Amino acid sequence: MKTLIEVSDLHKTFQQGLETIHALKGVNLSIQQGEFVAINGYSGSGKSTLLNIIGTLDKPTSGEVQLFNQSINFKNQLELQKFRAQKLGFIFQNFNLNPVLSALENVQMPLLLTNLSQKQRLEKSAQILEKVGLANRLHHKPKQLSGGQQQRVAVARALVSSPALLLADEPTANLDSHSALQLMLLLKEMNQASGLTVLFSSHDQRLLTHIDRTITLNDGVLQSSQGSNYEVA
Ligand SMILES: Nc1ncnc2c1ncn2[C@@H]1O[C@H](COP(=O)(O)OP(=O)(O)OP(=O)(O)O)[C@@H](O)[C@H]1O
Ligand SMILES: [Mg+2]
Repeated sequence: MKTLIEVSDLHKTFQQGLETIHALKGVNLSIQQGEFVAINGYSGSGKSTLLNIIGTLDKPTSGEVQLFNQSINFKNQLELQKFRAQKLGFIFQNFNLNPVLSALENVQMPLLLTNLSQKQRLEKSAQILEKVGLANRLHHKPKQLSGGQQQRVAVARALVSSPALLLADEPTANLDSHSALQLMLLLKEMNQASGLTVLFSSHDQRLLTHIDRTITLNDGVLQSSQGSNYEVA
């Protein structure tokens, strides 16, 4: 199996006035292509910090991150931007949709950076909205959609440029339990259909029963990793 994420001795500290907060204290982790992995751990344990660094949105204090067998150089912002646009998809707790754009317009946003024509962009966006079950909601604005539907628009937007890795920080936190489960099953389906690697954080123990592997952070330390083919480096 191909290793897609390799994190070695990752440390992250935040300076808060005179106080130094050790958010990550030497995390080692490797995730294989095609895995569906949840990060859990109590509030403040470092889940968002770890996801942000793996997503190249924040840089570590020390340690190394390799994605797709490539060591990430956190200094080159332009290169990172390009890398993110080509290889990574993100979904967020608050959906982060543009409120004045329709579902279709929100989903085609990442494609504006490609050479596709407008017609191709809209076709591709409509196809993926259909895949997430929103074929009849293309022209709805976010506030005309339920929370679960909004998050599915966000999933479509994250996946429209066919990334290899989907990162999601508490994607179900603002959803009722039914929509949360629907979202998990949708992500699982995408994972199984296309080999998309999914790494997400969640508090919700009920959802974690659907996951291949759960890793637990405790106060910035990776405590355990359970599942079928786990590996803590
Ligand atoms: N920008 C920042 N500046 C200072 N401290 C920060 C910053 N971001 C995170 N921290 C601290 O780092 C620790 C880890 O925070 P993080 O957001 O990663 O936790 P989390 O596991 O995602 O929590 P939650 O479940 O509440 O989202 C916390 O103690 C937090 O206060
Ligand atoms: Mg968090």
